[in-house]
Amino acid sequence: MKKAMHDEHIPVALERTIELLTPALSVTSPYLIDATLGLGGHTEKLLERFADLHVIGIDRDKSALEKAAARLARFNERVTLVHAVYDQIANVASERGLTQVQGILFDLGVSSMQLDQSDRGFAYSHDAPLDMRMDQSTGVSAVEVVNNYSHEELTRIIREYGEEKFASRIAARIIDARKVAPVTSTIALAQIIKESIPAATRRTGGNPAKRTFQALRIYVNNEIDVLERAIPAALELLAISGRMVVLSYHSLEDRIIKRAFAHVSTSEVPHGLPVEPEPTSYHLLTRSSESASAEEMESNPRAQSVRIRAIERRAA
Ligand SMILES: C[S@@+](CC[C@H](N)C(=O)[O-])C[C@H]1O[C@@H](n2cnc3c(N)ncnc32)[C@H](O)[C@@H]1O
Repeated sequence: MKKAMHDEHIPVALERTIELLTPALSVTSPYLIDATLGLGGHTEKLLERFADLHVIGIDRDKSALEKAAARLARFNERVTLVHAVYDQIANVASERGLTQVQGILFDLGVSSMQLDQSDRGFAYSHDAPLDMRMDQSTGVSAVEVVNNYSHEELTRIIREYGEEKFASRIAARIIDARKVAPVTSTIALAQIIKESIPAATRRTGGNPAKRTFQALRIYVNNEIDVLERAIPAALELLAISGRMVVLSYHSLEDRIIKRAFAHVSTSEVPHGLPVEPEPTSYHLLTRSSESASAEEMESNPRAQSVRIRAIERRAA
């Protein structure tokens, strides 16, 4: 038990991430934006490894920023922490006088801390109010979605963001259940999902609640739209010889990264800008997505689903 708790806090694909970023960060006074700072695990190791690196760490979760601030305090002014959604990456950089950075890291999804915090409602294994907002100060929470949305809307969310084939059955059962009493806890929702899925399917494929919980989390935090805006903005921010690494954990996220990287690495006209000041091109550093090593998957459950992609900006 102790081992599992400890392992969950090890940053995923740490060595590979550092290896991919190293050429870009081996310059004088490099800057890296950690767009998903979380508990600062990757950032801490990068600051240790590169003596004059400065990191701007973004997170939309204030409690993650507080914990990261304590962990990273010894690096003093080499770290700047920013409470923001990562599609604001260009503004975050420009407000600090930066138009280009040498490295960018996205380690997507929720952190182990968010899953462990029993009051956040991310985990189907802890009984908690259904919330699931990464920034609890704003937006619609999962309890509002589950108790107010129509069958059609719930089905779409669960199917599209959870890739759940029993979406319509789950939505119907949620609606039946909430006629009796509002569905307000994670355990109550997990039970409804379990009952919606045919018994034969329940025996295979892990916890049946996993996909629906993922779907609600993605919807509540508007994760797909935000990511679709953030990746092109981040690509624009890379300096020549700058590198970006993205760790994603499900196919919807990975597809967005794959497409955005393919778009800039294959198009002849540099993407987006009407007038490119200096012709640049992007080169994929990972042919297709990479997985974590077998040893890492064995010791860190979160690493089992990671897909690693990296790209470099070059002078054309
Ligand atoms: C997997 S954790 C990062 C863990 C981190 N790499 C570490 O080693 O400690 C992802 C973090 O990204 C944050 N996050 C997710 N989506 C975000 C967004 N759109 N904007 C800003 N932060 C986001 C979450 O709040 C969470 O703290």
